[in-house]
Amino acid sequence: MSPKDKILKRLIEADNVLSGEVISAQLGISRVSVWKHIKGLIASGVSISSSPKGYRLISDPDSLAAWEFGARAGQIHYFSEVSSTMDTARAMAREGCPDHTVVVAQRQTHGRGRLKRTWSSADGGLYFSVVARPTIPVMVASLVNLAAAVHMADTIRSLHHIEAILKWPNDIYANQQKLCGILSQMEAEGDQIAYINIGIGLNVNNDPETNEPRAISLKSLLGRSVPRREILEAFLDRFEKQMAHFDPLAVIARWRANNMTIGRAVRIQTINNAIEGTAVDIDALGGLVLRLADGRRQTVVHGDCFEQ
Ligand code: BTN
Repeated sequence: MSPKDKILKRLIEADNVLSGEVISAQLGISRVSVWKHIKGLIASGVSISSSPKGYRLISDPDSLAAWEFGARAGQIHYFSEVSSTMDTARAMAREGCPDHTVVVAQRQTHGRGRLKRTWSSADGGLYFSVVARPTIPVMVASLVNLAAAVHMADTIRSLHHIEAILKWPNDIYANQQKLCGILSQMEAEGDQIAYINIGIGLNVNNDPETNEPRAISLKSLLGRSVPRREILEAFLDRFEKQMAHFDPLAVIARWRANNMTIGRAVRIQTINNAIEGTAVDIDALGGLVLRLADGRRQTVVHGDCFEQ
């Protein structure tokens, strides 16, 4: 354990002011080193007050620093800034990190969305990727994205009583504006999923409207700032429970019950193609079933959905 981590551990255990003198004696390092490591902790997002009596951790309900997650601390990897949590999560997944490792960042310099779009990732939003290693057939892997969307929408509804509705494939809307986007990346070896990284960007206390007029944040919807940590914790509780006993039929049923796409005339845009029709259902793998103008049915498995 690094000296920084040892200091953090002692501050957590003390749950009170701890003098620099005590820390330096316990760790066998100088008080100047203690201060240097404290500054490092503060720079990495840990709130610590310092007074003549010593140092004390300050808990902040909006903080996403790992230590704030209590029993989950080991699974959370917090960064004040990354290019994209997807890149960090992929590197960690390839190095063999455990199932349900979470990479969360205060901001992203190159946040990305589906179809090669950028995802504006200013301070205040919730940007994270979960590394999942489900033992399910590769064929149903796309349902993991749908499950993530279903559980994030349910989390928002139950914590904040907002009508969070799913838009195919896995966007979350409120008031006809986009609140949350989900991106995934998977690697498989033969028939086995090595990992699926689910990247979620939720507009919480940021102002997405400045770049994207059809986007909205929880802060705008509620007229007040919202602490991000309880959202992430509540989402992980739901998502992990689902993944422990993955139930494709339940995911599909829940998605059908809470979506704004079925019954609408839509245009599905892929990188090189567009298809128009009326959305009539989703199939067992989460593909969108369209009724075309000539009456034929066609299922699309990826793309962006625009209402006509
Ligand atoms: C979309 O709607 O196009 C998907 C947006 C996904 C954004 C999230 S933010 C966390 C993770 N890191 C990224 O770079 N993208 C995803």
